[in-house]
Amino acid sequence: MRSSYRPDRFTVAIDGPAASGKGTLARGIAETFDFAHLDSGLIYRAIGAKTLEGQDAIVAAQNFDAEDTKRDGLRTSAVSLAASEVAAIPEVRAVLLDFQKQFARRLGGAILDGRDIGTVICPEAEVKLYVTASAETRAKRRLLELRETNSEITYEQVLEDVKTRDERDATRASSPLRPAHDAIMLDTSELSIETALELARSHVREALERLDQAKAD
Ligand code: CDP
Repeated sequence: MRSSYRPDRFTVAIDGPAASGKGTLARGIAETFDFAHLDSGLIYRAIGAKTLEGQDAIVAAQNFDAEDTKRDGLRTSAVSLAASEVAAIPEVRAVLLDFQKQFARRLGGAILDGRDIGTVICPEAEVKLYVTASAETRAKRRLLELRETNSEITYEQVLEDVKTRDERDATRASSPLRPAHDAIMLDTSELSIETALELARSHVREALERLDQAKAD
């Protein structure tokens, strides 16, 4: 199912706290509308992983290469916490701005998920979604993912990690996690993935139709 109208540039920004389901929604929308997808969390994860190997965070950010996001082991809880630490460093964020801004406005449409996409990376995004769920729901979802590679991890550990990252992400001075003033709020606590995805798709379709209509007027 693809929308017929395609403006040259069209950006969907999906932000929200840890494990809120942004990635799943972003991948689903990218597939439906054939947009390029950037999981911006993977950038911070790749840099966080390098700091765990002893590199300086700012140097790792300066040498960032998109290929780095494809390395294995970026989803572990150690890397998640390291990612939120490097993400609080203003120089790290500054170095990564251009790459993300260009991705957002590339030809053919783009969807980016993260913490600051609608507020800092692409305030002009045509659709901004802010995806939330209770910390307990998010921890349960993340536990299922992490259990695939780590059978030892407990719910309590995951809940603690999620809360630690939320606190750090929301209180940092540089690009803190918060909804853009014009973001559509999507609480997925009580929603299935399919229902949440259908809602998100309907917001994208409406925005495309509005632009199509505006062009015709
Ligand atoms: O998938 P999950 O929501 O658990 O995390 P993620 O999106 O992969 O992001 C990992 C960490 O990177 C977050 O806890 C943030 O500290 C940081 N991040 C950020 O600061 N800005 C972004 N645009 C994306 C991620």
